[in-house]
Amino acid sequence: MGRLQKILIPFLGLVLAFGFYSSRENFKPEMLRGKRVIVTGAGTGIGEQMAYHLARMGAHVLVTARTEAKLQKVVEQCLQLGAASARYVSGSMEDTAFAEHVVKEAQNLLGGLDMLILNHIGKSYFGYFDGDVGHVQRLLQINFLSYVAMTASALPMLKDSGGSIVVVSSMAGKVGFPLTVPYSATKFALDGFFSSLRQEFSMQSVNVSITLCILGFINTEAAVKATADVILMSPAPKEECALEIIKGGALRQREVYYRYASTKIPLLLRDWAADLLDYLIRKHYNMENFKNN
Ligand SMILES: NC(=O)c1ccc[n+]([C@@H]2O[C@H](COP(=O)([O-])OP(=O)(O)OC[C@H]3O[C@@H](n4cnc5c(N)ncnc54)[C@H](OP(=O)(O)O)[C@@H]3O)[C@@H](O)[C@H]2O)c1
Repeated sequence: MGRLQKILIPFLGLVLAFGFYSSRENFKPEMLRGKRVIVTGAGTGIGEQMAYHLARMGAHVLVTARTEAKLQKVVEQCLQLGAASARYVSGSMEDTAFAEHVVKEAQNLLGGLDMLILNHIGKSYFGYFDGDVGHVQRLLQINFLSYVAMTASALPMLKDSGGSIVVVSSMAGKVGFPLTVPYSATKFALDGFFSSLRQEFSMQSVNVSITLCILGFINTEAAVKATADVILMSPAPKEECALEIIKGGALRQREVYYRYASTKIPLLLRDWAADLLDYLIRKHYNMENFKNN
């Protein structure tokens, strides 16, 4: 064995062991008891499940989406599950003023904020890019700019509480995915903004954590319906996914990968074998079942 290898192998072992053990603080549901949390896009899907987990943990939950009837049901269910309090604000994230209003409501109703979970997405299409620039702009507003607006408004409260920002993203925000071009663009934007902001927080000693969540295919009604029979993967359960996001936020992790094996592991190829990763992604699409719409 060469001298370089003799030094390099133990060194790499040490780095890996340090990385593994330094991030092993255990999650306890009590970490969320009494915490004031906003969950966006909580009328359905993963956001709804996050609201229920937080309620069971005894958090104060403020949920938001457009459809009031769904939010009312989520709030009722949260109260039954043991939330310290549960409220909703309905409206569209297409409007920056609404995004800021939700944060103000947290200030008025809860007197502060410990965790901001940014999860909502606007409706997009599952098909080849159709050249509609207006749609990309609208989606950027909902999926990206409203996240920025809520973060900017919530920052004073989060600084006071030493709180957390949790950003729900996707594999499609780390590597190119076909048939979701506008959606992928908005998710890549989140990585650029929040990863850069994390760097600045570190330089300025701002005690607010940022957790970016990289999700694979999850069994929400919207995702399963949109991709029906085209994506050749079985989706992971939204309940477990929601819990993993909350755990990552509570532990102030830099990133959450769910499920780990189908997200983090393939992404290891990204910088070394990008064409191979692109090919493997395309192999999971059954285009015989695809109808462009
Ligand atoms: N499911 C997956 O396979 C998957 C994979 C990777 C990443 N993710 C990410 O996980 C998150 C949740 O996904 P999901 O599958 O749970 O989605 P979902 O079930 O479609 O939920 C989206 C939520 O956003 C709300 N919403 C839609 N348009 C809105 C608007 N204009 N303003 C405000 N709220 C709006 C919806 O309620 P209203 O319609 O009532 O407004 C709903 O509560 C997203 O960030 C998504 O990118 C999901």
